[in-house]
Amino acid sequence: MTHFLDIHTTDAADLRAMIDSARAMKTARNNRPKGTPDDDQPLAGRMVALIFEKPSTRTRISFDVGVRQMGGQTMVLSGADMQLGHGETIADTARVLSRYVDLIMIRTFEEATLQEMAEYASVPVINGLTNRTHPCQIMADVMTFEEHRGPIAGKKVVWSGDGNNVCASWLHAAGQFGFDFTFTGPEPLDPERVWIDFARAHGSDVKITRNPEEAVAGADLVIADTWVSMHDPQSARERRHNQLRGYQVNEALMARAKPDALFMHCLPAHRDDEVTSAVMDGPHSVIWDEAENRLHAQKAVLRWCLGV
Ligand code: CP
Repeated sequence: MTHFLDIHTTDAADLRAMIDSARAMKTARNNRPKGTPDDDQPLAGRMVALIFEKPSTRTRISFDVGVRQMGGQTMVLSGADMQLGHGETIADTARVLSRYVDLIMIRTFEEATLQEMAEYASVPVINGLTNRTHPCQIMADVMTFEEHRGPIAGKKVVWSGDGNNVCASWLHAAGQFGFDFTFTGPEPLDPERVWIDFARAHGSDVKITRNPEEAVAGADLVIADTWVSMHDPQSARERRHNQLRGYQVNEALMARAKPDALFMHCLPAHRDDEVTSAVMDGPHSVIWDEAENRLHAQKAVLRWCLGV
């Protein structure tokens, strides 16, 4: 069974092949008249379940559109509306869904839920975000960087803010795609040690600094993300803002990166908290390409999982 559960557990050559495939599919699609289906319909006759236990705009729509563009069909399911939300086990849900659909994409809270779904499903499972990781986002982000600046290997990527689930998948990608990664943020919000160790063990020069200005010096890419994630209690909001205020990505900070540095944010953003509108809408920003590339990158992930 070919699951796409995380970047660090997927073969690096397969990850590279998926990025290349995504770029080829994007080019082919952009060369076709708008509104026409892809020539290639590799998912014809296939049904994909998209399960959401947390809110989503980009993941939900990009998976739905991507499957349809490739000739497949989708059912978008809310975890709360399924028996899953009323005590049926993940294992039993996985067994039943596998009798109906060809692939399951799930966005959930606990990593253990994703792992159990994958263990008991007899169809591929894709991680659409857990509290710990967000691999589909970073596949799109690597694709976006390379579209604009060529190979990401050897580049300096800087994360400013909370060492959250998106940051974790960036660390996995640093190890698998061979770039250097600097985290800047307050110590209590450092990324998990195990992810730092993974990236370092795979040759990435990972640095941790409390000084954002020092962090972004020589950066090829600067990344911000929300200061309060979906699984964080709202009661943490004020404390988080106080902890992270000094790590806002603004024009002054971007000016310390390389002149051609890119800016990314997985969205949704809180304008003028973690990033200023001037940066989001400014010349360094590639956030709309980043959002679009969720579609293309995930189409490649779906094809890889299904072997089509
Ligand atoms: N970046 C991201 O995963 O967006 P959604 O939460 O809207 O899916």
